Amino acid sequence: MITIKSSREIALMKKAGQILANVFDVLEPLCIPGTTTKHLSDVAEKVIRNAGGIPEEKGYYGYPAAICASVNDAVVHGIPSSYKLKDGDIISIDIVVSYEGYMADACRTFAVGNISEEAARLIRVTKECFFEAMKVVKPGNRIGDISSAIQRHAESNGYSVSRDYTGHGLGRKMHEDPSIPNFGIPNTGPVLKEGMTLAIEPIILQGRKETRVLNDDWTAVTCDHKLAAHYENTVVITKDGYEITTMNEQGEM
Ligand code: MF3
Ligand code: CO
Repeated sequence: MITIKSSREIALMKKAGQILANVFDVLEPLCIPGTTTKHLSDVAEKVIRNAGGIPEEKGYYGYPAAICASVNDAVVHGIPSSYKLKDGDIISIDIVVSYEGYMADACRTFAVGNISEEAARLIRVTKECFFEAMKVVKPGNRIGDISSAIQRHAESNGYSVSRDYTGHGLGRKMHEDPSIPNFGIPNTGPVLKEGMTLAIEPIILQGRKETRVLNDDWTAVTCDHKLAAHYENTVVITKDGYEITTMNEQGEM
């Protein structure tokens, strides 16, 4: 069931989203050689709690940290560790914050030091996939329009999309209906309506689309060990379009 949020609920989701956007502003400059992914998680947790939010990933089905930190061929759900970031790495940081019970979910892929042209292109195209999808986000259009926009932009740039992880509704819970695949067919699936709240999250792979989960039971990696990038925001469907809850007005990321 897809829930429609009241204006009060949307206001709380926006507050959660602001807290989350600020966390990225703090973490981005820390994504430099020598920083451990555990440190990034600890900093994120402090910033979130100081702002009155809760890092919802911690304890989610036993997940052990405040953020997901997926480096290079890690696709999603990388567990923060003593791994030290090194020059040329890319790191996808996925965070869920709640404020008074309402969720914001977002992810950014950051460059560590000097990265290859090819890695930079993957990060850029992944972000473009999100904004291609946003062009069709308005009441009356359908989930399949979002899915196909993402797939088309990724594949026309020579990349593939994971079939194993999708976007989703969210609100009181981290994951609600509908599921939002990053591949699909226009004019299919649930119809978008004012007051729906969605996490739209292209997860784009440099090589083949297959992924597998490591023995830690969380970290998903590409089967071919090529790179993955991920860009996600929480979005509210408005009367004639959308609003993004997890982006700061200033620095567009
Ligand atoms: N934030 C992820 C998403 O975009 C979910 C993370 S689940 C966790 O849907 F357990 F790893 F936290
Ligand atoms: Co999500």
